[in-house]
Amino acid sequence: MAKYIIRQSPALTGDVSISGSKNAVLPIMAAALLTDEACEITDVPALRDVDVMCGLLRGIGARVNERYGEKTLEIAAEKIASEEAPNELVKKMRASVLVMGPLLARAGRARVALPGGCAIGTRPIDLHLKGLRALGARIESENGYVVAVADGLRGANIYLDSPSVGATENIAMAAVLAKGTTVIENAAEEPEIVDMVNFLNKMGARIKGAGTDTIKIEGVERLCGAKHAVIPDRIETGTFMLAAAITRGSALIRNAVPDHVKPVTAKLRECGVDVRVSDDGLIVDARRGALTSTDIKTLPYPGFPTDIQSQFMAFLTTVRGSGVVIENVFENRYMHVNELNRMGANIKIEGRVAIVEGDCRLRGAEVFATDLRAGAALVLAGLYASGTTRISEIHHIERGYESFVEKLRGMGADIVRMEDG
Ligand code: EPZ
Repeated sequence: MAKYIIRQSPALTGDVSISGSKNAVLPIMAAALLTDEACEITDVPALRDVDVMCGLLRGIGARVNERYGEKTLEIAAEKIASEEAPNELVKKMRASVLVMGPLLARAGRARVALPGGCAIGTRPIDLHLKGLRALGARIESENGYVVAVADGLRGANIYLDSPSVGATENIAMAAVLAKGTTVIENAAEEPEIVDMVNFLNKMGARIKGAGTDTIKIEGVERLCGAKHAVIPDRIETGTFMLAAAITRGSALIRNAVPDHVKPVTAKLRECGVDVRVSDDGLIVDARRGALTSTDIKTLPYPGFPTDIQSQFMAFLTTVRGSGVVIENVFENRYMHVNELNRMGANIKIEGRVAIVEGDCRLRGAEVFATDLRAGAALVLAGLYASGTTRISEIHHIERGYESFVEKLRGMGADIVRMEDG
C-alpha cells in the first residue's frame, strides 16, 4: 500500500498555487445533469473524487470528456439512461448523493444507495429527503437504497433543521425545474453553494440569496448548457496556510480567495502568525518566534470550517500554551487525535471538546490517515516532528488534494510517496 514518508522539514518558503475546489466541482458536475446540452467546467482539480463523479455521470448516461491537462471537463447529459447511483460508488464517495436532486428534476426518478456513515460521523441524509418530499417526491427505502419518484415537482417553502451543505445543494438542484417558487430557509452559506448557484444561473436558473441563510428559486421550464470556472479550494488554502505556519516558514499562497478563509486568517493572527493579503493571494509569515495558542470552535460557514479543524489542531500542538478545540459540526471528527498523540502530542478529549497542550516535541511515527482532513493534519505534523513519519491509508488524502506531495516539495518539504513504503 502506498505511504507518505515525511522527514522533519525546514521552514517552508516560496509559493504554492491553489487548485479548484473539490466541494464546489462535485455539485457543479451533478448540476450538469439538469440540461441536455453540453457544459464546460474549467479549473477542475485532478482528484479521485472527481474521477468517481465522472464514472457516476457516465453510468447515468452522460457523455463526459476529461481534459485534465487543461483542467477541463465537458459534460453532456443528452439522455438519462439510468437514474441510479449504485452502492459501490456511493460508498466510495458520499457526494454521489448529490445526483438525487438533478435526477428527480430531469427524469422524475432517482435510486440512490444510502450513504453509510464514515470515520467522521453517521452523516444521514434526512434533510435532503425532507426537502425533496416537500417538493412533491414520494420517497421509499428498499434494501439500502432510497427511491425517489415524482411526476413533476412543485415549489415549496423548506426549513432546514440544520444548515446542511449537501441538503441545500440537492434541494436547490431539484427546485430549479419545479413549477413555482421554492424558498430554502436556514440554508447553508458556504462559498461552494454560491459557486454552484452561479453555474445554475448561467444555465438559465433563477436563484437569489445564495451565500445567505435564505435561498429563493423560481422554477423554469428548462436549462441550457453553460461554461464555468470553479472557485479555488478554501480548504486546500487553509491547509497550506498551516503548512507554512507549523514549519515557521513564510510562503505566498497564489490564487487563494482571502474572504473564504477569514476565520483561519483571524485564528493564525491570534497565534502571532502574520497573514497579509497581496495581489497574488495570501502571504503567511510565521518566522517571528514564540507563537502562542488559541481556541477554535467549528461552525457552519462563515464560522471556523470543520474541514480545517484537524490541521489547526496539529499546529496548536507546536505553539506555546494550551488551546481548546470544540467540534460542533460532526459528532466524531477527532480520529486524528490518537495518531497525533502517538507522535508525542498531548491532546485530551471530553465529548466534543479537545484540550490541546502546546510546546510538544513531536516525534516521527508510523501513523495512518482515517479520513481526508485527518490525513492532511498528520502530514503537517510530520513536517514539524523530529525523525521520520510514515503515513499509510493515504488514498484518503489523495481523494481531496491535487499534487499534494509535489506542491509541498516545491516549498521545501521533505516528503516522498512510496508505493510500498
Ligand atoms: C460537506 O459535506 C462537505 N463535502 C464536507 O467536506 C464538509 O465537512 C461538510 O459539508 C460541512 O462543511 C462536500 O461538500 C462534498 P453537511 P456534507 O450536510 O454536505 C448533518 C471534506 O473534507 N446532517 O453540511 O455531507 C451531518 O451529519 C468533506 O471535503 C444531517 O443531520 O455536510 C453533519 O453532522 C468532509 N442530516 C452536519 O449535518 C442531513 O440530511 C453537516 O453535514 C445532512 C447533514
